[in-house]
Amino acid sequence: MINCRICATPLKPFMDFGQMPIGGAFISTGQFEDEYFYHMKIAVCSECATLQVMDVPDPERMFNERYAYFSSTSKFMMKHFQEFSEELISKWLPEEDQFVVEIGSNDGITLQNFAKAGIRHLGVEPSSSVANAARGKGLNVLENFFNVATAEKIYAEHGPADILIATNTMHNIEDINSVAAGVSILLKPGGIMVQEDPYLGDVIEDTAYDQLYAEHMYIWSITSLNNAFGRHNLEIFDAEKQKFHGGCMRYFLCHKGAHEKTLRLKQYITKEKKIGLANPATYDAFKGRCEQSRDRLVSIINNIKKEGKTIVGYGATAKSATIINFCGLTKNHIDYLSDTTPKKQGLYSPGAHIPVRSPENFSNNYPDYAILFAWNHFEEIAQKEKMFRELGGKWIHPVRMVEIF
Ligand code: SAH
Ligand code: TYD
Repeated sequence: MINCRICATPLKPFMDFGQMPIGGAFISTGQFEDEYFYHMKIAVCSECATLQVMDVPDPERMFNERYAYFSSTSKFMMKHFQEFSEELISKWLPEEDQFVVEIGSNDGITLQNFAKAGIRHLGVEPSSSVANAARGKGLNVLENFFNVATAEKIYAEHGPADILIATNTMHNIEDINSVAAGVSILLKPGGIMVQEDPYLGDVIEDTAYDQLYAEHMYIWSITSLNNAFGRHNLEIFDAEKQKFHGGCMRYFLCHKGAHEKTLRLKQYITKEKKIGLANPATYDAFKGRCEQSRDRLVSIINNIKKEGKTIVGYGATAKSATIINFCGLTKNHIDYLSDTTPKKQGLYSPGAHIPVRSPENFSNNYPDYAILFAWNHFEEIAQKEKMFRELGGKWIHPVRMVEIF
C-alpha cells in the first residue's frame, strides 16, 4: 500500500499509465539498454485532495547534470517572469536589507531580474546543468535540494527571506513536508512565498493528461496546496489565475494569520468545490476522457501514415513522453522531435527513442503534420512558424479531444 506523501492516508489509484520512463530524461544510444522505468499510477488523496503520481524515481535520478529543461528557451516566459519580478519588487519588498530566495531557480530566468535591480538573492537549484547557466549570468546559486536542512543553512548564513519564490517547482519535490517546514523557518515574519504551477482545474478541464509524469508528481489546487502547507503553520492568502503553461495558478502564502485572505481567493475555493476537485467521480470521468483522447490521437496518426504523409513532433517536452508512451507511438509514426534546446538535440526521447533535432530541420523541410507537444507555447510558436501553415502544413493538438488545425 502506498500512502499520501502529504498526510499518509492510504491511496487508491484511479488511473494506471503502466511502465514509464522519466519524462525529461533524453538519452544517447549507449544508454538505451539500461534506461530507467517506473510504474506510473495516479491517485487523489481522499483526505487532503492532493493529486499525485504515486511512486516516482529518486530525485537524484531526475535532477542532476543531465537535466535538460532550460526555462529561458521561451521568450514569452522570460517576459512573464520579468513582469512577475517587477510586481514583487514594487509591491512586496521592504526598503532595506532585502533578501529573496528562489527554489528551483533553473537558469536564472526570474532571479536575474532581482540581481539586475541590485537585490540580495539566492537561488536553490540541484541540477548543475541549469545552476551553471545561472552562475554564468552572475547569479548566486546554492546547488542543493531545498528542504529543512537547506533552509536552516541559508537562515544561518544569510538570515530570513522577505520573499520566497517557487515557480513550476513544487510539483517536482517528493518531500513537500520538508519543503514547507523549511519555508516556515526561512520566511521572515510578514514575508511572503509566491508559487506558480499548472492548475488542477485546467488539467481536468482540458484533459491535459500530459501534465502528469515523474517530475510533475503533483498537480496542485488551492485546496490541496493549502492543506499541504497548512501542516507547517503556513497558508494561502491570495491566488491569481495565469494563462501560462496551459493554465497556472499563482499562490501567495504567508505564516498563518500574517496577511488577510482576499475575496478572489474565497471565490476560487468556492469554484473548486463546485467543479468537484475533491470528488472521486471527477477523476473517473477524467480517466475516461484521457482514454478517448488517446484513442483519437492514435487513430488520426495511423490514418495519416496510411496516406504516406510525414509527421514530426514540435517540442521535445517532458509532457510528450507521457503522450508518446501512453499512446504507443514510435519513430515509425514520428520522424523526429524538433527542439531549440542544444542539450536535447542529438539525443533520443525517453522510452520511444525518437531522435531530437534542431528546428532548422523543421523549417528547411516542413512535414505534412506537426504534433504540437509544446502546445503551452503555441502563441510564441505560431509567430515564428507562420510559413508552415501557409505552405499547407497542419498542426495536431495532442491532448484535449485532439484537434487538427
Ligand atoms: N522556476 C523555473 C524552473 C522550473 S523547472 C521556471 O518556472 O521555469 C523546476 C526546477 O526545480 C528544475 O530546475 C529542478 O532542477 C528544480 N528542483 C527540483 N527539485 C528541487 C528541490 N528539491 N529544490 C530546489 N529545486 C528543485
Ligand atoms: P515545456 O512545454 O515548457 O515544458 P516540459 O518539458 O516541462 O513539458 O517545454 C518546452 C520545450 O519546447 C523545450 O524543450 C523548448 C522547446 N521549444 C521549442 O522547441 N520551440 C519554441 O519555440 C519553444 C517556446 C519551446
